[in-house]
Amino acid sequence: MAILNVLEYPDPALRVAASEVSEFGNELKKLVADMWETMYLSKGVGLAAPQVGRSVRLFVADWEGDRRVIVNPSIVETEGAEKVDEGCLSFPGIYEEVTRPAKIRIIYRDENGERHDETAEGYLARVFSHETDHLDGKLLIDNLSALKRAFIRKKMSKKDR
Ligand code: NI
Repeated sequence: MAILNVLEYPDPALRVAASEVSEFGNELKKLVADMWETMYLSKGVGLAAPQVGRSVRLFVADWEGDRRVIVNPSIVETEGAEKVDEGCLSFPGIYEEVTRPAKIRIIYRDENGERHDETAEGYLARVFSHETDHLDGKLLIDNLSALKRAFIRKKMSKKDR
C-alpha cells in the first residue's frame, strides 16, 4: 500500500468531473487500498479518487465503522434537509455548516463490480453526498454563502505549500 498525496483547494484537478469506472480489476483494488490507508492516516471519514489525482468515479467512506467502497454512484432520491458542520481533506482546518438531504437513496457498485441499492440517513447520507459531489468537481465551498467562500479562498491561499 502507499500513502497518496491529497490535493488541496484550489488545485484545478478537484474541479474536473470524473469518468465512470469500467474495469473492476487489480488496479482498482490497489487504488482502493491506497485510498483507505491515506484516508485513515489523514483522519478523514471519506476520500474521493479525484482528491488523490485520479479522475474516476470512486470514493471510500467510513462513518463510525460503516465502511463502504462506492464506485459509479448515483443519488436517485433525496428527502428532507439538515444543516450540519462538515469538513473536507482538501480544505484542512475548515469546518462549515452545509445543508444536505437528511436521507438519500444511492445506487452504486462496490470494488468487485457488484450492484448495491442503499438508503442512508444522517451523517452517512451526508458523507455519501459530499463524496459524490467530489466526483462531479463540486466542493464544500460551493454550498456556502459568497462571504464565507471569499473568507475560505483567502485562508487557503495563505497556507504554506
Ligand atoms: Ni471532501
